[in-house]
Amino acid sequence: MKGLILSGGKGTRLRPLTHTYAKQLVPVANKPVLFYGIESIVEAGIKDIGIVVGDTERYIRDAVGDGSKFGAKITYIRQPEPLGLAHAVKVSKEYLGDEKFIMYLGDNLLSGGVKEIVERFVSSNSNATILLAEVDEPQHFGVAEVKDGKVIRLVEKPKIPPSNLALVGVYMFDSFIFEAVDNIKPSFRGELEITDAIQYLIDKGFIVDYQLVKGWWKDTGKVDDLLEANRIILDDLQRSIGDCSIESSKIEGRVHIGKDSRVINSTIRGPVVVGEGVVIKDSFVGPYTSIGDTTFIRSCEVENSIIMEKTVVENIPYRIDSSVLGKEVFIRKKERTPAVLRLVLGDHSGVEIP
Ligand code: DAU
Repeated sequence: MKGLILSGGKGTRLRPLTHTYAKQLVPVANKPVLFYGIESIVEAGIKDIGIVVGDTERYIRDAVGDGSKFGAKITYIRQPEPLGLAHAVKVSKEYLGDEKFIMYLGDNLLSGGVKEIVERFVSSNSNATILLAEVDEPQHFGVAEVKDGKVIRLVEKPKIPPSNLALVGVYMFDSFIFEAVDNIKPSFRGELEITDAIQYLIDKGFIVDYQLVKGWWKDTGKVDDLLEANRIILDDLQRSIGDCSIESSKIEGRVHIGKDSRVINSTIRGPVVVGEGVVIKDSFVGPYTSIGDTTFIRSCEVENSIIMEKTVVENIPYRIDSSVLGKEVFIRKKERTPAVLRLVLGDHSGVEIP
């Protein structure tokens, strides 16, 4: 059994964060989303993993390396253009050979791992197993119609969903999937859809099983989902305060602080994860916040947010809430008075000043 993680694609829904960066590397509780997928595949006993990459290959390679830090052997597979999930399978044919494989979308997070699901697939005679989860807005996903315990129809992002069962981004296939991906046509969004490939298997009488996910599942492709994933992961955080310096500060509840960080005259109320070499001064950091390495926070209130590495947030007179700040961002209120407005406004702009 091999693993295939899809880490190409465009990441348009996470712009501007993904203008310069891979969406699969956006951190959740200070760890790239992609790492959760790699870890759960390795935990299921699969060490041979292919990662499909596109334009952001360089960043993915830098972060993941040869896989040894995960106890895995990683092979990178270049997808020349993001032409769809089924296209990603097509370009991986040589790497996958005749082996059964688990396909994992690099921006998905699944609690409880995949060990059990993989074991069940390996010992079954199914040609494919899909995972389904009940969701409130199925129109944003692939949707399955199930009858008498069988999947009968799959549709990608339907305007009128036939059920509330969304396709989770974790799939199990044997080599018949290559026949399917070779026999489908691009969809309305111009992509070769994996949903259509699985529908082909169903129509041709292959065995397609499904399992309902028991725990939680998140596609982190949008900002609100990313923040929710961050909250869910932080909910399981244990308190651990390492080799750091805490001066005149209160550290309440489940807080992790990395080494060489300094907390001065501040309150941190967990669950909160603080990376290494961070400085937090004269500030309040509230629940469900992740702060990346060597970030500097002074005279601010922050909560329910992801602040990535090497960012500076200083002297902000508002509470920063439900926000995602990328790497090396700075936000600073100028201390000088009188307040000066410096504006660069395009045509037809409107600004109201109190
Ligand atoms: O998250 C679950 C959903 O994922 C399913 O319900 C849908 O049926 C499935 O089509 C997929 O929908 P998305 O629109 O969310 O897929 P997205 O374009 O975000 O791509 C998912 C991952 O695959 C992401 O990490 C990027 C990668 N990818 C995507 C494309 C289109 C590739 O590596 N190559 C590609 O060509």
